[in-house]
Amino acid sequence: MAIEQTFSILKPDVTRRNLTGAVNAKIEAAGLRIVAQKRIHMTRPQAESFYGVHKERPFFGELVEMMISEPVVVQVLRGESAIAKYREVMGATNPEKADAGTIRKEFALSMGENSVHGSDAPETAATEIAQFFTESEIVG
Ligand code: TYD
Repeated sequence: MAIEQTFSILKPDVTRRNLTGAVNAKIEAAGLRIVAQKRIHMTRPQAESFYGVHKERPFFGELVEMMISEPVVVQVLRGESAIAKYREVMGATNPEKADAGTIRKEFALSMGENSVHGSDAPETAATEIAQFFTESEIVG
């Protein structure tokens, strides 16, 4: 198994409810290391570009509005099979379908306000990390 990096976002529903530490505790308990982290207020162009793959979907407008409604915390997570492991810790996109113990089961409010983003593949992880972090901001 390889050591990987994945990109994570703690979404506005997490920062609004002051749950950053609670979500980070779950990330760290899963053996993932937070090697970069910053709190930002995403701009509309950033959010539209980040979720560009969904721009034709009916939920796109609402998704962008939600992502820019409050600050987010962007992170780089490192660990063994970090991409798949974080997807497991996050739980299913729809929190009603998420397994017990996952971040989304515990904290998500709805499909739209589902608390976290995590990359789904090595290529997207690399692209997403580069959108928000320079190499020197990632400290292992
Ligand atoms: P997606 O990339 O399919 O899920 P994931 O975040 O688990 O990788 O979708 C991106 C986000 O878009 C998702 O976290 C929440 C939102 N979304 C909706 O609001 N409605 C939907 O029907 C879907 C599929 C996603």
